[in-house]
Amino acid sequence: MSDLVRFGVSIDQDLLENYDRLIGERGYATRSEALRDLIREALIQQKIETQTEIDALGSLTLVYDHHARNLAQEMGAIQHDFHKNILSVMHLHVSHDDCLEIIALRGVISEIAELSNRLLSLKGIKNGKLFLTLPSSVITRSE
Ligand code: NI
Repeated sequence: MSDLVRFGVSIDQDLLENYDRLIGERGYATRSEALRDLIREALIQQKIETQTEIDALGSLTLVYDHHARNLAQEMGAIQHDFHKNILSVMHLHVSHDDCLEIIALRGVISEIAELSNRLLSLKGIKNGKLFLTLPSSVITRSE
């Protein structure tokens, strides 16, 4: 970890009051910790959107219809095509009709996005979302 640096911030009082209320609701002990998280999130989003050939970590959550024809086979075939990117899969039978699948992912962002888009667009997938993040060393790398 690099050295801690202090800096001053000029901010409208109304904005600061709302910020303090928000971070209080979220349980932050200090403004600084909340601000560090905001900065990390902004840097992650900027890198993910502009550098699609770097390595990322992620998870894809899918809710799908257990009874959809051929869906399980199609999902399996796509996952085998991207086996290098899949670290682990957790499958939960949440009801008579619905399955929840959480796929842990690692690899080049463009490949993870392709895998996710192919799964999310299958007929029978009811809802899903990809979460991407970066190792901390990549977040603070200047480029
Ligand atoms: Ni199931």
